[in-house]
Formats: sequence, structure tokens, C-alpha cells
Amino acid sequence: MDKMTVLITGSKGMLGSDLCQYLTSYTMHNIIPTSRKDMDITKWEEVWNAIKKNQPDLIIHTAAEANADLCEEDPHHAFLTNTMSTQFIATSCRNLNIPLVFISTCGLFNGKKDSPYTEYDPLKPLTVYAKSKTKAEEAVRAIWGSHFIIRPGWLFGGNIEHRKNFVAKIYSEAKGKDELVSAADRFGSPTYTIDLARKIIEVVEMGVYGTYHIANFGMCSRFEYVSEIVKCIGLNIKIKPVDSSYFPRYAPVPASEALENYNLNLMGLNDMRSWREALHDYISARFLRSL
Ligand SMILES: NC(=O)c1ccc[n+]([C@@H]2O[C@H](COP(=O)([O-])OP(=O)(O)OC[C@H]3O[C@@H](n4cnc5c(N)ncnc54)[C@H](OP(=O)(O)O)[C@@H]3O)[C@@H](O)[C@H]2O)c1
Repeated sequence: MDKMTVLITGSKGMLGSDLCQYLTSYTMHNIIPTSRKDMDITKWEEVWNAIKKNQPDLIIHTAAEANADLCEEDPHHAFLTNTMSTQFIATSCRNLNIPLVFISTCGLFNGKKDSPYTEYDPLKPLTVYAKSKTKAEEAVRAIWGSHFIIRPGWLFGGNIEHRKNFVAKIYSEAKGKDELVSAADRFGSPTYTIDLARKIIEVVEMGVYGTYHIANFGMCSRFEYVSEIVKCIGLNIKIKPVDSSYFPRYAPVPASEALENYNLNLMGLNDMRSWREALHDYISARFLRSL
């Protein structure tokens, strides 16, 4: 694969910053990180001018409104930030012949399946956030064929200041307490941003366009996830399993958001390690050292 210049949207976010770090540290590709101040993705002129000026070889579009409760409260904001903005980016890519990686999400299904969802399961988005991402996927498919649509699992990674850093959130909630409660009836596939970044680049370098689930191996409840986080950090705290109704939420999030990397399996590309191993790695190699 030739050396590429990769423009990344949302480069200050949890995934965007780890993508930049991965590309810079482990590949020969150049990056053009963009954040809100360089290019507000909700403004067509800004998107078009920035992409036209930079003429990258690839765009990885991570920027989004990823707060499901906020999306539920303000659908206009969700559809503008997640759907219309993606249309702007896909249109720019089509006009300039630039392949696009669009970062979608895991919670696009009805959540009732006992096993992880594959790319071939029917979509049934329940929340405004999931609807806005599903519509964005449809727009990408309709506008521009040279795309990779990536659905990651529950993400962890980034630095401790990132608002989406789930490990940091649990750490700050747990500090000084004897007990934390966590939902035992919500399921997903925790996924390390650096493992995801590596696999995105592998898929891009292979060059087969399409839709891919990319998650670390395995499925767990939120309770098991939180228990593993506190164990890895070394906190002496009891985690009590509760029903999700304990945490009233604005968004009707599905019971299961777990993913199987079915297309990666079909292509012989699925060497994603288990979520526990990846979580231990992130916490010992990065999280604890940054405290
Ligand atoms: N976190 C998860 O568990 C998870 C799971 C599956 C999929 N995803 C997807 O993964 C992607 C990255 O998520 P993340 O967890 O890294 O979220 P994040 O930390 O909130 O990053 C999102 C980034 O998008 C930027 N952004 C939002 N609106 C923008 C706008 N109008 N113009 C330019 N930039 C804007 C934000 O910038 P500001 O800080 O300036 O707002 C932020 O840097 C998203 O597409 C998300 O839907 C996340």
C-alpha cells in the first residue's frame, strides 16, 4: 500500500485522538487532524472548503454527537451533526474521488438477540442517536460507493480527560466508595480504540469496500465490564448488579449492542483479541500511568 495522507474528523475526540496516535506511531501514513475549529462538520461550506483545500487520500469521519440522551432530547441537533454532516462529507468525497471511512455505531439493532449481532442482521434503531447513524449509513451508501462503514463496539481508550472515557468515568465514580451499582441486563462488546484503529487501517489497505463490525472478541454485561475495570485498576470496591431500570435514561437504549466481526471472519481478517486482554493492556500501559 502506498503512503496516504489521511484526514480525520473529530481528531480531539476519544477515538479520533487514538486514531491519530496510531497512524503517527505505527504506520507510514501522514495525518491531517481536524477538529471543530478547523471544520465545523455541520456547515457545508466549511466541510467542502477544508476537504478541497487539503485533498487527502482518505477521510476517516469520527466526529459525531455520541451522547444518546442528548440526541433523544434534541433530534434536530442529532440529525444535523450525525446525518446531514455525513452527507456533506460523503458528497465532498464523491466530488473529489476520496475513499471514506464512516464511523457508525453498535446500537442499531432491536437488542433482543441472545448472541452478538452480525452485519447481516436487520437494523431496528430504537434511539434518535441510532436512527441518526442508520440514516447516515444509508446516505453514505447512496452518495459514494468508495466507502467503509465501520460499526465499533463500546469504546474505551483515549486520555483521562475525554468525556467519553468510560474507564475514567468508572474510576472517578468509584474513588472513595465501598460499592458501585451497574446494570446486569445491558450487553455489549467493549472495544479498545487502538485495536479498532489498527483494524480500520488493515481493512482500508485491503481495499474491499463495505460494512464492517469491528469489536474486541466477546460479549459481556455492563456489570461484568465495570467489575473488570475496577479489578484492573486495583480498586477495592464491591460492584452490585442491578436492573437497568435503576438508571432512568432519556434514550431507550437496546438491551444488547454486542457485535460479531462476521465480515472480518469471512475475509480471514478477524484476529481481534478478547476485550478483557485489551482492557488490561489499556489500563496498565496507559490509564494507570496517566493518573
Ligand atoms: N464511545 C463509544 O462507545 C462509541 C461506540 C460506537 C461508536 N462510536 C462512534 O465513534 C465515533 C467517535 O466517538 P467518541 O467516543 O470518540 O466520541 P467523542 O470523544 O465525543 O468524539 C467526538 C468528536 O466529534 C467532535 N464534533 C462533534 N460535533 C462536531 C462538529 N459540529 N464539528 C466538528 N467536530 C465535531 C467533538 O468535538 P467537540 O469536543 O468540540 O464537541 C469530538 O471531538 C463517533 O462517531 C461515535 O458515534 C462511539
